[in-house]
Amino acid sequence: MAYRSKAGSFRALKGVNLEVQQGDIQLLMGPSGSGKTTLLSILAGILTPTEGSVFLFEEEITKFSKEKLAQFRLQNIGFIFQGFNLFPALSAAENVELILGIKGIRGKAARQQTQMLLEQVGLADKANQKPGDLSGGQKQRAAIARALAGNPRLIMADEPTAALDSHSGHNVISLLRKLAKEEGCTVLMVTHDPRLVDVADRVAYLEDGVLRR
Ligand SMILES: Nc1ncnc2c1ncn2[C@@H]1O[C@H](COP(=O)(O)OP(=O)(O)OP(=O)(O)O)[C@@H](O)[C@H]1O
Ligand SMILES: [Mg+2]
Repeated sequence: MAYRSKAGSFRALKGVNLEVQQGDIQLLMGPSGSGKTTLLSILAGILTPTEGSVFLFEEEITKFSKEKLAQFRLQNIGFIFQGFNLFPALSAAENVELILGIKGIRGKAARQQTQMLLEQVGLADKANQKPGDLSGGQKQRAAIARALAGNPRLIMADEPTAALDSHSGHNVISLLRKLAKEEGCTVLMVTHDPRLVDVADRVAYLEDGVLRR
């Protein structure tokens, strides 16, 4: 991956080759600026690599049209990214219900699942508040509840526990672990959290855009 700007071209990733096993908790670690978010964005189809390909569930997503990619992401991937991407006009519960609706889960079933997800991240009492009225850690937890809605096959997370107190961090970790081990969900995440290293199946290290395992 090369970023091009007025200042010239910057090679953020060099010859990266990574295979992730289904149902694994796969971590991506490395110093600041090493290319972790870049790699995660490419694997999620948010960023198009300058060279190379990405296969998700046997499909080459780097060949997909924009529309097909957006649809594929909605159906298969739950995102927990830096900056949360919550819809500001919707409450925490509505943010979760929106994703369930896209996946065909509506009405009572959607309300029940939303309630359960918000309880799991410890946010049931803030269900009707909008992101602007939540703290950083609470926004993070709302984003996590939304990412888990409708059991995605793949969860991609960038520092999911960074803004959390130790209790919510612990809950999120057990939730991710349960999804991977009981639902066969693949979890791919960037983290510096040693508690996540403890539950990880594999860890890949990036250094200056080069992957070491
Ligand atoms: N849009 C961009 N244009 C130019 N360079 C970029 C762009 N985005 C990232 N970079 C550069 O690419 C490199 C990798 O950035 P990236 O955000 O992937 O790092 P990171 O490992 O996620 O770091 P951090 O731990 O600080 O989040 C950095 O040197 C960064 O300056
Ligand atoms: Mg980053």
